[in-house]
Amino acid sequence: MAIDLNVEWQQVWRTAPDTLSGRFLRRFWHPVYRSQDLAAGRAVPLQILGERFTLYRGEGGAAHIVAFRCAHRGTQLSTGWVEGDCLRCLYHGWKYDHTGQCVEQPGEDEGFAGKVRIRSYPAEEYLGLVFAYFGEGAPPPLTHHPDFEGPGILDLETPELWPCNFFNRVDNACDIGHVAFTHAVALQRGRTSTGEDPRFARVRQFSSCETDYGIETTITFPDREPEYFHYHMPIANQNSEGASLHRGGVDTSGARNKRISWRVPVDDDNTVSFSVNLFQLTEEEYEAYRERRRVTDAIDLPAIGEDILAGRIREAELDEGVPRPALFSVEDYVTQIGQGPVAPRENDRLGKIDQGVIMLRKIWERELKALAEGRPLKEWTAKI
Ligand code: FES
Ligand SMILES: [Fe+2]
Repeated sequence: MAIDLNVEWQQVWRTAPDTLSGRFLRRFWHPVYRSQDLAAGRAVPLQILGERFTLYRGEGGAAHIVAFRCAHRGTQLSTGWVEGDCLRCLYHGWKYDHTGQCVEQPGEDEGFAGKVRIRSYPAEEYLGLVFAYFGEGAPPPLTHHPDFEGPGILDLETPELWPCNFFNRVDNACDIGHVAFTHAVALQRGRTSTGEDPRFARVRQFSSCETDYGIETTITFPDREPEYFHYHMPIANQNSEGASLHRGGVDTSGARNKRISWRVPVDDDNTVSFSVNLFQLTEEEYEAYRERRRVTDAIDLPAIGEDILAGRIREAELDEGVPRPALFSVEDYVTQIGQGPVAPRENDRLGKIDQGVIMLRKIWERELKALAEGRPLKEWTAKI
């Protein structure tokens, strides 16, 4: 099957199991929940890649993922009871172990339970997140991120749900050209005006190259150290030490913060972001950050974005009640949701500033094409 992103863009953004991109994405582990939000003995419904699942934490503390519905008469298993490492259905009490094997059926003959099994999926916890593997067969090892395993404070942001396809968010990860314009207000706020229009004042040179893990983009400045951005196949982006933008709301120099975000498809029109920071802060500084973050978390940033998109307000009219770091999120929301839930990318007119975006799309095209034709795919490794 030939893939040409100019005419078959849907093969990239569709994520259901029977689609090309859906098959590709299911070859990777994805974060699906924050560990801290899942208490022992608790079950919750999940929607990832357009499919629904049940996530629960056994009383012993291990996280498990099984099918969304009970095999008996299909009710939602997350409403049932966690018993030890098993899950009992609310409707008629069938009980499943963490492999999905039915182990008890009140009122039924012995022997029936052994014939009933629902699907289960590998789950592992890492960097404060529950990762899951939804592909067929044995999973590859979970990709580790040594940049986030060092000393410091590991901080998990509140997951962020945006009403757009995951590729709106992934595309932006390699798009350095947007920064001066999209983030003009946030970048300017709190700075004394030099009389120059900051959107055009900064000389930014950047270049992208394919790496073992994805794409590294280097931005150089005439007057300071370069900044690096890392895109990890297939849905994560990371700023490295030195980067000063998208700091997750921390008002310290970027050199003291690393941040990685996964843009996980919920379905084809919605994406949830899980962001992890590794801070080099004192306890007092971290507490002050948490306080600022509580303020930011209490604001409905997507609602502000929607007001801007609807023309009810301009971003420059927002007062200081929206803290500066939160503006970065509003600004990205406006441009990425402003593209439409699923952007018709075949209409894009890409130019020189889009070199990272072009590289990203070429990689996706190459890999999807290999998958469609049954050829080997690139073995992506961790960034070390
Ligand atoms: S639907 Fe689950 S036990 Fe009947
Ligand atoms: Fe941005």
